[in-house]
Amino acid sequence: MKSMVDWQKEDVKYIWHPCSQMKDYEELPPIIIEKGDGVHLYDMDGKEYLDVVSSWWCNLLGHCNTKITEGIKAQLDQLEHVIFANFSHQPAIRLCQRLSKIIPEGLTKFNFSDNGSAAVECSLKMAFQYHYQEGHHRTKFMCLSDGYHGETIGALSVGTLDLYAKIYQPMLMDAIRIDAPDCYRCPYGKCRENCHVECFEKAEQEFEKYGKETCAMIVEPLLQGSAGMRMYPAQYLKKLRALCDEYGVLLIADEIATGFGRTGKMFACDHAGISPDIMCISKGLTGGYMPMAITITTEKIYQAFYSDYNEGKAFMHSHTYSGNPLGCSAAHAVLDVLEEERILERANETAEYLKEQMHQHFGSHKNVGEIRTLGLINAMELVTDKETKEGFDSKERVGYQIYKEALKEGLILRPLGNVLYFNPPLTITKEEIDAAIARTEIAMNKILG
Ligand SMILES: Cc1ncc(COP(=O)(O)O)c(C=O)c1O
Repeated sequence: MKSMVDWQKEDVKYIWHPCSQMKDYEELPPIIIEKGDGVHLYDMDGKEYLDVVSSWWCNLLGHCNTKITEGIKAQLDQLEHVIFANFSHQPAIRLCQRLSKIIPEGLTKFNFSDNGSAAVECSLKMAFQYHYQEGHHRTKFMCLSDGYHGETIGALSVGTLDLYAKIYQPMLMDAIRIDAPDCYRCPYGKCRENCHVECFEKAEQEFEKYGKETCAMIVEPLLQGSAGMRMYPAQYLKKLRALCDEYGVLLIADEIATGFGRTGKMFACDHAGISPDIMCISKGLTGGYMPMAITITTEKIYQAFYSDYNEGKAFMHSHTYSGNPLGCSAAHAVLDVLEEERILERANETAEYLKEQMHQHFGSHKNVGEIRTLGLINAMELVTDKETKEGFDSKERVGYQIYKEALKEGLILRPLGNVLYFNPPLTITKEEIDAAIARTEIAMNKILG
C-alpha cells in the first residue's frame, strides 16, 4: 500500500498547485487530505487539522455537513446539469426566490457563473455594456488600493495587490485606484473610536476628476480580505453609495468573501444599510461544496439589455456550468441550515468568545500590533515594534514560518504576509476555538519567542 510520502511524490510529479511557489513543496510537501468532518480535516496518516481558514474562506458550515451532502445526493438522482440558455430548472428558480428575500433591496436579476473571478468579470462587463447601451460615454473603472477581486485579467485589472497583478500590468486595463482606508496606520492620526472617515476625501477627489467618465466602482465591502483582513467602517460604504449616486457611477459590491454571515450579518452591505447596483456572491453560497457564483443586479440595469434580438443588446456572456443544479442544491441546503439551525445568531455568540480569547491570549504579545474583528473573522497583524507599527520584512516570511509550525500542531492558518487570521466555518464551537488558540500560541512562540 502506498504511504502518504509516496502520494506526495506523485502529487508534485503531476500537479501545479494554485498560488504556490512549487519549490517550497520540496521542504513542505502537500498534505494529502483523506476526509473532513466539521471544522476538522484528516490526512492519510490520520493526523487532524483544524481548518480555521475555511478552505479558502468557502467552507461555511463545516466539512461533510450531512444536510448539504444529502441535498446534493438527492439532486444527483434527478438532474446533474443542463444547458442554461433556453432551459432552466426548479432548483435555480427556487434559489433565486429564496435569495431575493435575504439580499439587499432592489437586486432582482441573477446571472449565474461558476467562480468568484467569473462573477466579477461578469459584473464589469455588465456595467460597461449598461452605460454603452444607455448612451453614456463611460469607460473607466474605479477600485480601492489593496483590493482583490480574483485573478482573471478583468478582475486583476481592478485588483491592486502587486503580488498577483504586477507582472501582468501590460495586459491589464487601466483602473483608477482610490487610496483605501487604512485604519491601523491611519494617515489622519485617528483611531477606530474617533474616526469620521476623513480618508473618504480621497474618494471624493478621484470622483471629482474621473467620476463622469467612470462606469463603476468595485469594492470588497468592509473587509479587504487578501490585503490582510483589513477592515473599514460601514460609514465609508454609506458615503460611497451616495457619491456613486451623485456621479451616476454604478456600485459593485464584491461579497464573494463577505457574504453569508461571515461578517456577522448576512451580507457586509447590510452593516451600512446600502444596496449596490451589482453584487457578486460565491464561496459560502454553496457552503464550499460546489463551484458556483452569481452576479445579481437591478431591474434598471437589466432593462438596458432587454430589447429585440436584432438590436444586439443582449448580454452575450456565458459559462458552461451556469446555474448547475448540483450547485443550486448545495445552496438550498446551505440556506436550510442557516435558517433551521439559527447559524448567524449562534455564530455571533461564538464570535464574542473568539474575540475575547484573541485579546486575552495575544493582546499583549510583543509582536501583535493589532487584533481586528468582524463577525467571526479575527486577524492579528504582526509587527516588529508596536510603537512604530513597523512590519516584518516580507523576505523573512514570518507568517509562512508560523504557518509551518501551526501545521505541525494540527492547525491550518495560511497567513496573509504578516497577518495571521481565523476565518472559520460559522459552526465552530468554543472548544474548537480553544484548541485553535492553543495551537496558534505554540506556533507563534516557536517563531517569535
Ligand atoms: C473578494 C474576492 N473576490 C473574488 C475572489 C475570487 O474568487 P475565485 O477564487 O472563486 O475566483 C475572491 C477569492 O478569494 C475574493 O476573496
